[in-house]
Amino acid sequence: MDLRARIADLVAGAIARGFEGAEAPADIARMLEVPPDPVLGDFAFPCFQLSKSLRKGPPQIAQTLMQHIDAPRLARAEVKGGYLNFFLNRQGLAEELLPVILSAPERWGSSREGTGKTVCLDYSSINIAKRFHIGHLSTTAIGNSLKRIYDFLGYRTVGINHLGDWGTQFGKMIAAYKHWGSQDMVEQGGVQALSDLYVLFHQEEQQDPALEEEGRQWFKRIEDGDEEALRIFNWFKEITLKDASRVYDLLDVQFDSYAGESFYNDKMGRVVDELQQKNLLKESDGAYVVDLEEWSMPPCLIIKSDGATLYATRDIAAALYRKDTYDFDKCLYVVAYQQDLHFRQVFKVLELMGYDWAKDQLEHVSFGMISYEGEALSTRKGNIVYLDELLDKAQEKALAIIEEKSPGLQDKTGTARAVGVGAVIFSDLFNSRIKDIDFRWDRALNFDGETGPYVQYTHARCSSVLRKADVADSAIDYAALQDDEAFQLLKLLALFPEAVREAAQRNEPSVVTRAVTEIAKAYNKFYYEHRILTEDAGQSRARLALTSAVQAVLKQGLFLIGLEAPEQM
Ligand code: ARG
Repeated sequence: MDLRARIADLVAGAIARGFEGAEAPADIARMLEVPPDPVLGDFAFPCFQLSKSLRKGPPQIAQTLMQHIDAPRLARAEVKGGYLNFFLNRQGLAEELLPVILSAPERWGSSREGTGKTVCLDYSSINIAKRFHIGHLSTTAIGNSLKRIYDFLGYRTVGINHLGDWGTQFGKMIAAYKHWGSQDMVEQGGVQALSDLYVLFHQEEQQDPALEEEGRQWFKRIEDGDEEALRIFNWFKEITLKDASRVYDLLDVQFDSYAGESFYNDKMGRVVDELQQKNLLKESDGAYVVDLEEWSMPPCLIIKSDGATLYATRDIAAALYRKDTYDFDKCLYVVAYQQDLHFRQVFKVLELMGYDWAKDQLEHVSFGMISYEGEALSTRKGNIVYLDELLDKAQEKALAIIEEKSPGLQDKTGTARAVGVGAVIFSDLFNSRIKDIDFRWDRALNFDGETGPYVQYTHARCSSVLRKADVADSAIDYAALQDDEAFQLLKLLALFPEAVREAAQRNEPSVVTRAVTEIAKAYNKFYYEHRILTEDAGQSRARLALTSAVQAVLKQGLFLIGLEAPEQM
């Protein structure tokens, strides 16, 4: 049941009857507004746009439409100026909506719009030998959520971790390892030991310029497929991924492919040949570039003067490979806005190569920066927050709160994990992705704010109400759900599918985060204003049915943004 579509149908019917031969606007559903003040109705259809084609004033159009509205159980209409305002029938809404949600609670908001379509999502995409830090939280959380949302809408999704596993720094790292490292040290120290080695290399390089050449030699050996070089390099990769997998497990994030930059080593030739054939390569100081001046962008560097290919070259190869392999309808790159230009260049080069799909199927899903407790993060200044440490701390803090609030809870550690980790993800996905965020503990873990714990707590409250319910058999009395609080909840539940769709259309998980937050707030309001279990069995059953629908939608909504929903808190 799609509320907006239903109201749009009413309007379309009235236009057809009231203005014979007139052409109804294509997207009435999207024209429908939600009045800021509910006194003006639940939906409003503005007649201004029709005024030109119908050659009548908007108020007059609204009057005519009003006379031709096929007043159903769902809503009644009123004219207000140039608007036709709709007031939903509260009982009608409850009667229609709740049985639909409760017949398949986990499917509410899902759809088949994506059947037969494939979406590739490039997210997280960490760099080898660098510890997973908070700077890679957003790409991981947004990407994971979008993957779940697209899955829910019926798309086939391919999650890709485009590993940063290519570059001269890996030669330097091997050189450093050879000088100062040992197997034990790396096995025990993990990725931190690797990045320490790298830092050390840079310090030593200042005194001993020969080191630089050594690093270059090692990189060349990786490139040439030298056995020892590759063995060490692949081992570095393993160490990095092992460390990262702890974070991925905590976040419950998975990938279908780990094909990173080095995966495209043997696929560069095609890109370069094709660019050459299509006359797109231009020499510039010994390097090769694609000129993008016409589009007001700096040239896209394809081959350096020493013959090495670049990040952009690899992304061009990756796009072609993904198109060939997955035949995607959409390929999303969840990467910080610092790389805006990079992706505009890459997409443009692909378009110039004649791949029309680059224009509307490749999308950079850009997002803002994250700071921590008001402080900008910078690797150079040593101001880094590691994600595993952050998540551990989140769990500890959540556990302390739980110990205090519900000492009798059964699975305290499991719950603390869900709540702590959830708080971190939620705070990352609450605002529009393009906004910069400042992570703050007091905000993320506030059980009364717009937070993960708050929504999870509301879900647990619903579960508890349902567990404890013991009501005599009776038919559900839908008329008992006409109060303002129940009605508000019903509306929000009815609009949940729209939120999920919008989140996918705009690649914006925050739409779902906001939707579950609003539902949680509305439920708590309802819960404080009304007793769920009363002497009236029909009324109690109605309120329980509503609670049950809320519980299901909160759980599903939390899942879509990557959070667990504990039954008890
Ligand atoms: N590894 C890169 C970074 O950490 C992100 C890669 C994003 N994906 C891509 N296809 N370029 O900045």
